[in-house]
Amino acid sequence: MSGLQSSDCGVRAHHSAFCNLSRRGSPHSEIQGLQPPTSNPQPPISAVVLGARGMLGTDLVSALRADPGFSRVEGGDLPEADITDEPAIQAFIAARKPDVIFNCAAYTDVDGCESRQELAFAVNAAAAGRVASIAASFGALLIHVSTDFIFDGRKRSPYVEDDTPAPLSVYGASKLEGERLVAERSRRWVIARTAGLYGAAGANFVDRILGMAKKAAQEKGELLGVTDQVNSPTWTVDLAAAVAALAKRFAGRPGEVHEVFHAANQGGCSRHEQIAFIVRCAALPVAVKPVESSAFPRPAKVPAYSVLNADKLRREVGRPMRPWQDALKEYLVTSALPRLLKS
Ligand SMILES: NC(=O)c1ccc[n+]([C@@H]2O[C@H](COP(=O)([O-])OP(=O)(O)OC[C@H]3O[C@@H](n4cnc5c(N)ncnc54)[C@H](OP(=O)(O)O)[C@@H]3O)[C@@H](O)[C@H]2O)c1
Repeated sequence: MSGLQSSDCGVRAHHSAFCNLSRRGSPHSEIQGLQPPTSNPQPPISAVVLGARGMLGTDLVSALRADPGFSRVEGGDLPEADITDEPAIQAFIAARKPDVIFNCAAYTDVDGCESRQELAFAVNAAAAGRVASIAASFGALLIHVSTDFIFDGRKRSPYVEDDTPAPLSVYGASKLEGERLVAERSRRWVIARTAGLYGAAGANFVDRILGMAKKAAQEKGELLGVTDQVNSPTWTVDLAAAVAALAKRFAGRPGEVHEVFHAANQGGCSRHEQIAFIVRCAALPVAVKPVESSAFPRPAKVPAYSVLNADKLRREVGRPMRPWQDALKEYLVTSALPRLLKS
């Protein structure tokens, strides 16, 4: 394997097969960066995170516990905080009475949703509505996480919050119904739509590609990358910072809150571009061949284009979500590549 001398990652690799990328500050300094420049001091916010052991939930619990703006951060997941089990989830939340509930719990297997429609709607729609009702009964702010897959992908510029949803898949339809029920059942809600998540706590596309690229480099193989699916890959650490910042903006605001935000790392790329970026950052001598999505038939239809415009979030919290390349580079350096080197 030869190291890169210089790449689109904007760095030089000298010591190993992988880029010796320079750190731009810890993930948590990025989190701090999302705070509004001049926020009024407010008492620490108590929070419950549902889906707390999932990919986003794990990083969100860590971010909130490291943030002095939050106190009593507690997480729940299956089986102890099953959002489809009304008495159980009611009791879980009643025992804590948080100021803010973050709902990161979901059935996220996009292809699995096609054959398990009932489960998809039970978790992503009906249970999300139930959490909203429970939040409303305690006057808690609900921050509910949703998806770019509510859009049909026919637009060719980044989606804004007011664009008309038209999901192509059962997963997208169930998440859209979840949004509708959240808005119907609660008067204090924020919906944060995100996209293309990767993070250390979950099996994800970036880690899978790295594993495949390492193998391809050893076997002089190549990778295939789909060119006709474009989205905004997003690091869960950055999304956690964004939703924490939204909680701080709205938790202390009296009265009703009805807000939708797009929260994704900015810009967009095809799977092919993302894979090529990962391979370059890892300095692996692997060719990435462009192919169309028809080369990988799958049960669920996926939008051809679902880049999210996060300008509204930037205006609200005073800082932008950073470009997808910067976030992915930091994830690779601080998390994925060290793990791959150990494996
Ligand atoms: N991943 C993406 O690329 C992506 C993109 C756009 C939006 N989102 C949204 O972002 C949010 C977080 O996604 P993620 O990638 O972190 O998902 P994830 O890793 O699958 O985490 C979801 C968590 O919810 C749990 N869960 C499932 N059913 C539940 C139930 N009935 N009650 C309580 N918890 C339950 C899961 O447990 P099990 O693992 O045991 O099932 C898992 O721990 C979701 O709302 C998702 O729709 C994700």
